[in-house]
Amino acid sequence: MTSPMQVETDIRKAGTIPSRVYYDPELYNHARERIFERSWQLVGDTAQLKAPGHVIPFTLLEGCLDEALVLTRSNDGIAHCLSNVCTHRGTIVVEGEGHLQTLRCRYHGRRFDLDGCFKFMPEFDEAEDFPSDSDNLPSLSLHEWGPFFFSSLDPMCDFGEWIRPVAERMDWLRPEKCQARPDLSQDYLIQANWALYCDNYLEGFHVPYVHAGSLGDKLDYEQYHTEVHEWGSVQIGIAKDGEPAFDLPKGHPDYGKQIAGYYFWLFPNLMLNFYLWGISVNIVQPIGPTTTRIIYQSYVSDASKLGEGAGSNLYRIEMEDEEIVESAQKGVRSRLYDRGRYSPSREKGPHHFHRLLASFLG
Ligand code: FES
Ligand SMILES: [Fe+2]
Repeated sequence: MTSPMQVETDIRKAGTIPSRVYYDPELYNHARERIFERSWQLVGDTAQLKAPGHVIPFTLLEGCLDEALVLTRSNDGIAHCLSNVCTHRGTIVVEGEGHLQTLRCRYHGRRFDLDGCFKFMPEFDEAEDFPSDSDNLPSLSLHEWGPFFFSSLDPMCDFGEWIRPVAERMDWLRPEKCQARPDLSQDYLIQANWALYCDNYLEGFHVPYVHAGSLGDKLDYEQYHTEVHEWGSVQIGIAKDGEPAFDLPKGHPDYGKQIAGYYFWLFPNLMLNFYLWGISVNIVQPIGPTTTRIIYQSYVSDASKLGEGAGSNLYRIEMEDEEIVESAQKGVRSRLYDRGRYSPSREKGPHHFHRLLASFLG
């Protein structure tokens, strides 16, 4: 018998999401269509697309959505996120990063402006009702926050609402000043479902068990807490005595607290971790029902603090997390396991995530 795809509102009574979410191929496809196709995704670094004419083709969520898109900056200085698929017969238009005056499809020569508007097509003089709007390259909404571009194929919510909890707490830090450090960035492939990786991220309950001797030494477990927002949550890590903490400005909601790290999660798959040295971005990229790529990108504001506090030694912490998540992935397939219960004091994050998952998958 399969249990219903529902998660009780009251955490004290709730059971976790049915375990088939973590391996069933049909539910994985539902997540792709109902969640990822409608999600906001971090699609680029604003510092990389500065000059008019600059074009950067990319694949949105490779291995999951595989949507061919291109970032462009038109001559009026406006940034665009366009479909990179020619409106004639579907060829990829921009094949590589560069600087262009127009976008030209190499198959039959159709041309578009940098904002996606159709410009010219040879041998179409006799075509009727041509060109029309459908001959333009489709344009997606594109937003900036901090050093990042965000876009969505079909947004499930307003971008401003989605990013607001992060902006409200972190704008004082001038996140737009953080600089990408590809040398400190890395991808990891794990044998686990994307949502199981998020579950683990969303609670600090496991810190004293899984991260004893690493993160557990930096954070005060008793004071660790989670705040839930409509489209995400933040975990606030308070520094142990003697460990470094943020110097928060007066008027900040956390002024007076010794904060070692902010761990923001934005539904469905983005983690923005703020440490004294800058931002560690984690993008959880589904590849299949039980395979996930974790993309770590570092954006540094103060390199002298890279080795300090909760934001140091991230590689070891990631290895500890991956090992436990892959173990849980083996377990959730069991015929003898379906769902568990939540700690009301320590698992608000996973509970909120499961409620969102159930609302989209149910
Ligand atoms: S497919 Fe692009 S011009 Fe024909
Ligand atoms: Fe962890």
